[in-house]
Amino acid sequence: MSVVPVLSARLISAAEAAFGLPTVDPELRAATKPEFGHFQTNLALRLAKTLGRPPRELAAALVQHLQVDDLCAPPTIAGPGFVNLTLLPSALATAVNALPGPRPGNGLRVVVDYSQPNVAKQMHVGHLRSTVIGDALCNVLRYAGYEVIRQNHVGDWGTQFGMMVEQLLDEGTKAGNLDLEEMQQLYQRARRHFDGDAGFAGQARRRVVLLQSGDPVTVDIWRQLVEVSLTEFDRVYGLLGSPLTRADVVGESAYNDALPGVVAELGDAGLLTESGGAQCAFLPGFVGRDGSPLPVIVRKSDGGFGYSATDLAAVRHRVDDLHADRIVYVVDHRQSLHFQQIFALARAANWLPEAVPAEHVAFGTVLAPDGKPFRTRDGGTVYLVSLLDEAIARAGALLADRDGIDRDAVARAVGIGAIKYADLSNDRSNDYVFDLGRMVAMTGNTGPYLQYAHARLTRLLAKAGEFDGEVTVLTEPAEQRLALLLTGFGDAVDQVAATLQPHRLCTYLYDLATALSAFYETCPVLTSAGEVRTSRLALCTATRKVLHEGLTLLGIQAPDAM
Ligand code: ARG
Repeated sequence: MSVVPVLSARLISAAEAAFGLPTVDPELRAATKPEFGHFQTNLALRLAKTLGRPPRELAAALVQHLQVDDLCAPPTIAGPGFVNLTLLPSALATAVNALPGPRPGNGLRVVVDYSQPNVAKQMHVGHLRSTVIGDALCNVLRYAGYEVIRQNHVGDWGTQFGMMVEQLLDEGTKAGNLDLEEMQQLYQRARRHFDGDAGFAGQARRRVVLLQSGDPVTVDIWRQLVEVSLTEFDRVYGLLGSPLTRADVVGESAYNDALPGVVAELGDAGLLTESGGAQCAFLPGFVGRDGSPLPVIVRKSDGGFGYSATDLAAVRHRVDDLHADRIVYVVDHRQSLHFQQIFALARAANWLPEAVPAEHVAFGTVLAPDGKPFRTRDGGTVYLVSLLDEAIARAGALLADRDGIDRDAVARAVGIGAIKYADLSNDRSNDYVFDLGRMVAMTGNTGPYLQYAHARLTRLLAKAGEFDGEVTVLTEPAEQRLALLLTGFGDAVDQVAATLQPHRLCTYLYDLATALSAFYETCPVLTSAGEVRTSRLALCTATRKVLHEGLTLLGIQAPDAM
């Protein structure tokens, strides 16, 4: 049972009975200090302004009408008019013994656009962030009751593919023989050829038209480039433990046939203006720093469609065909303007109903330890796979002296978990420094610290052997604190589902693991006896379950031993 909703409902009823105000926001918060009990509300202070009465008087009236004696010690009024609530140990125990699992379906469908690597290019740290955050959000939304549809909007379309196919034909190179690295080099060669040879440039442009119109030879070569890339992405997803599969790939190319219709409809709706040969939408409110309007270019002056047209077609598909009730885009913050414009234009065109929220889950840049954007020594992009391999190696070194565990498997879980947790535990809108040494540390707010807390609990419970019983005794403050945190798990998950900020779940789990350490210090488990022992074992079992569930929602493995 989650106590927050229950107490909130009681406060709402009390406010209604005391002041005749229906459904106020009860503003129930965790107490700021242990001596204030477990929860507090400043409802009386807030209502004082509306009702024009002294807050302490309102607090007294609220308390008088508040029926919580089955759950709390008698409520107290503090300071200018705070109402403090302290749960009864019996109520806390009941709540821990009835911790809820995943919510039943809420009948809503959420489409999550994430990962989105580009064909013929290696995935980089930006794709890591999108994949890690996207996976966690999908898990959390699913847990909170949504039906989740993943959409991997792979960058598999555009003029560069005309250039690359032409270069392959020109060289007589077979696309299927190339790996991703070689494809990137192919692109560089094609680019140089294009810039330096007008004849080749013309052929490359014609090749784009051939690709877009479905010429079999061209499409076949393009498909091979896509296939090699997707195979490599699958390998990275496997290493990361991401559930993304081919079935989730709906690349930019999938919208090719819809693009002329998108532009035609926008034109019919009077939303387009010609500007320098391009078809543009000028939306109110979108101006640059110098006050000049910022258009959305839906059709370029050369007649080609671009990134924006594709995203408009994708919105329409997600609403009309996938029946999305909510759409989420996990993309770095540099694309914020793009998404604001796409959402505004899609609403203006009536493709995105007001009732369907579209949210850009923006995230910051990954920085090198020197605080500059993460680059290789020669200024190149840092590839994701090399980082994952290094993290696994570091975790392996830390585990070198452990016996009786599957060291390779645990090193993978710890190394990958460390990277994911470091990424998720920062407020996603901030940049963060990629510091592997800190990420894999077993102390502090890290993934391995939480994994270790879980593994230690698992070992303790295995040592305890079978036991039969529930949480019944909660006399020690450390026990109560742990129990109280456990009852807040569902609320923490709901908050992430609402705000799409995974770091809130990380903070919750870190607080839980910290409370667990404090509990170990004052509350012996294995050496205690009778009902206390049983109750503490039940508390440990519940804590282990929540740690496991929380880490799993974050996409992090929780090995039983490490
Ligand atoms: N492939 C793009 C990139 O790597 C991100 C795509 C984001 N999703 C979208 N629907 N535009 O930058």
